[in-house]
Amino acid sequence: MESFSGKVALITGGASGLGRLMARKMGTRGAHAVLWDINDQALAKAAEEIRAAGGKVSTYHCNVTERETIYATAEKVRRDVGNVDILVNNAGIVNGKPFLECSDEELRRTMEVNILSHFWTVKAFLPDMIKAKHGHVVTVASAGGIVGSAKLVDYSASKFAAFGFDEALRAELKQQRLNIRTTVVCPFFINTGMFAGVKTRFPLLLPILNEDEVAERIVRAVARGKERVILPAFVYTTWPLRLVPVKVFDWVVTLLGVNNAMDAFRGRHS
Ligand SMILES: NC(=O)c1ccc[n+]([C@@H]2O[C@H](COP(=O)([O-])OP(=O)(O)OC[C@H]3O[C@@H](n4cnc5c(N)ncnc54)[C@H](O)[C@@H]3O)[C@@H](O)[C@H]2O)c1
Repeated sequence: MESFSGKVALITGGASGLGRLMARKMGTRGAHAVLWDINDQALAKAAEEIRAAGGKVSTYHCNVTERETIYATAEKVRRDVGNVDILVNNAGIVNGKPFLECSDEELRRTMEVNILSHFWTVKAFLPDMIKAKHGHVVTVASAGGIVGSAKLVDYSASKFAAFGFDEALRAELKQQRLNIRTTVVCPFFINTGMFAGVKTRFPLLLPILNEDEVAERIVRAVARGKERVILPAFVYTTWPLRLVPVKVFDWVVTLLGVNNAMDAFRGRHS
């Protein structure tokens, strides 16, 4: 298992939910945690927790929808903390409404936060990883990046893109024989609050996941260099299911309750 000791781990959306927990776990296992977020109050609180637990942490207000801000903040991190060894693209948003009820601005923002920002952060930090001959890029996608479902059209589009981004980047890094690892993370719903109100029809097969357990699985996967984290394992069954006719696939997914999961969605804005 690779150690976090002496590593710099940058986590976007590090102020709350999964990002906050991953930062705390990496920060208290020897990494210098660098948190980027737009929520300054939550950033300060997350940093306080890591310091209180004996970890090293730095925080930056960085809106990942702003490409130039990403590049400028990356430069500041390089100066203040040093080269980033582990980049975790975790910041994410969800509208949770039928496609036509989302404004153009909301749709654009989903793509800007959930996928375009990955382009800019990887452009900002990958060259240093190549020079250092090691590094790790973690993409927090979603089970919504494996199966599309109702009221998540923009979200699924962005998460399928994130899944593809990781896969193609991994291929390119391997082809170039670069010692840089990637991990893609595809969890079903987690109790962070981002998807507050969602329901699952078969909790034994598709449980609402516990945020601490998911964060622990991701951090361990990063330490082990594991390429893919899909939770729960039942989500894997959707891949062989793609071999059957689309009508059957759609019927099974609906039967599993996936297309009604968002019916009582409140999210963070309730
Ligand atoms: N919660 C779930 O059920 C679930 C399931 C699968 C995947 N995910 C993914 O996991 C990741 C983390 O989600 P979470 O549940 O911890 O959500 P969260 O809402 O608790 O955390 C997201 C963080 O991203 C930050 N953020 C949002 N927009 C930003 C921006 N423009 N610039 C910088 N920071 C920004 C928020 O301030 C917040 O701190 C997301 O990518 C999400 O899509 C979540």
